[in-house]
Amino acid sequence: MGLDYLDQIIIHSPQPWVEVNQSENRYKEENRAVWKALEDAYKAKKVRVIGVSNFLQEDIENLLEVAEVKPMVNQVLCHISNTPSELVEYCQKNGITVEAYSPIAHGEVLHQPEIKAMADRYGVSVPQLCIRYTLQLGTVSLPKTANPDHMKTNAEVDFEIRAEDMETLKNFKKIENYGASSAFPVYGGKM
Ligand SMILES: NC(=O)c1ccc[n+]([C@@H]2O[C@H](COP(=O)([O-])OP(=O)(O)OC[C@H]3O[C@@H](n4cnc5c(N)ncnc54)[C@H](OP(=O)(O)O)[C@@H]3O)[C@@H](O)[C@H]2O)c1
Repeated sequence: MGLDYLDQIIIHSPQPWVEVNQSENRYKEENRAVWKALEDAYKAKKVRVIGVSNFLQEDIENLLEVAEVKPMVNQVLCHISNTPSELVEYCQKNGITVEAYSPIAHGEVLHQPEIKAMADRYGVSVPQLCIRYTLQLGTVSLPKTANPDHMKTNAEVDFEIRAEDMETLKNFKKIENYGASSAFPVYGGKM
């Protein structure tokens, strides 16, 4: 890559992506071996942050049993209607920063009238409400946009969602149909 160091490397998934949370094999030995390689890279100062992604509690525990360096982040699917609260809490208790990927549900939250109504009450856009929600969960929010205007407004989230609204958003009904994004493996009904 021609770089002196990388900011972050994560194990994308504890299992091959095609069988994520579908097979019982959690690849315990394989994940420990990959983790050892990441630890070596970290100790050699080739990477500043090492972590995991799509890891469940049992996958993290498997690493913690042998790790010399604890995973620093766990990057997980986390958005209104899909909030893995217990996993987020477990990570936070263990000092693992949670990164919320697809915080706007790949754009699908934009089609939920109840969420639009709440965003209107706060005088913000639906993506701003979504991003603020993940920040108030204590996660690092990872929204994606190819639109510079969206990028700018997505960063303007200096407002506070009230506690009762946070509860409503945490318990918001599961989005059953992700439209065009359903083909995207994350939304293949596996997570
Ligand atoms: N670790 C993993 O397994 C994993 C899996 C999936 C994704 N990720 C990461 O998570 C990040 C985001 O995920 P994602 O792209 O799936 O979902 P996302 O950030 O929830 O949604 C992106 C969609 O929202 C739209 N959007 C963003 N801001 C908007 C705004 N202000 N107004 C209207 N539409 C807006 C974007 O369209 P525009 O471009 O038109 O704004 C795009 O269609 C990526 O960096 C990705 O790499 C990680």
